[in-house]
Amino acid sequence: MPNVHIFDHPLIRHKLTILRDKQTGHKEFREITEELAMLMAYEVTRRHPVREVEVETPLAKTTGWTIAGQEIAVVPILRAGLVMETAITRLIPTARVGHIGIYREHDTLLPVGYYAKLPPDVSDREAMILDPMLATGGSIVAAIDTLKQHGCRSMKVMAIISAPEGIKKVHDAHPDVDIYTAAVDSHLNEKGYIVPGLGDAGDRLFGTR
Ligand code: PRP
Ligand code: URA
Repeated sequence: MPNVHIFDHPLIRHKLTILRDKQTGHKEFREITEELAMLMAYEVTRRHPVREVEVETPLAKTTGWTIAGQEIAVVPILRAGLVMETAITRLIPTARVGHIGIYREHDTLLPVGYYAKLPPDVSDREAMILDPMLATGGSIVAAIDTLKQHGCRSMKVMAIISAPEGIKKVHDAHPDVDIYTAAVDSHLNEKGYIVPGLGDAGDRLFGTR
């Protein structure tokens, strides 16, 4: 699959299995989602440029490194992406945060956008789009459309679980955008849920069902 990066780190695989388990309650589900988001961000930023800097320890001056290159905008898709954002901004505190509100219409599964608030300089930043679930792909394609309308040219998608159908939709619409995911599952069921998946991410995160 072009432009798709699947993480096989043992910790990521272990924690994803806890998320999949229907016995996992929403407190643990939220904690593990945060931990997974951090582990995934660690992998996603592996090749981010660094710049040499001088630092003075209590004993001597030495050379260190600081994050350089394009600044980051973290863009969670509401609601479920919010929990990933909390974790990633702990790792990258200088990132600006943009919020995009989208839900899937129950019968058609089409994305309905209801909110967008992005950093004013988002066109100069690299956007990390966060959503635990890439199912039909409608929500992520709509989020990328919104970012591109605001001039953003550099984007990465982070989804904990992806369906092949959604990956194809994102790739067909936006072949320039890479997808980073912990798993590519089998298929979507007739209600648009990822199988085996983990169920409804928003409901499990926030205890709304
Ligand atoms: C879920 C999920 C994604 C979307 C994925 O959100 O968090 O945003 O579905 O589906 P898609 O790839 O088919 O678009 P949902 O629509 O349930 O909204 P919510 O998080 O506000 O409950
Ligand atoms: N949204 C979810 O929360 N779960 C799915 O399986 C598909 C879309």
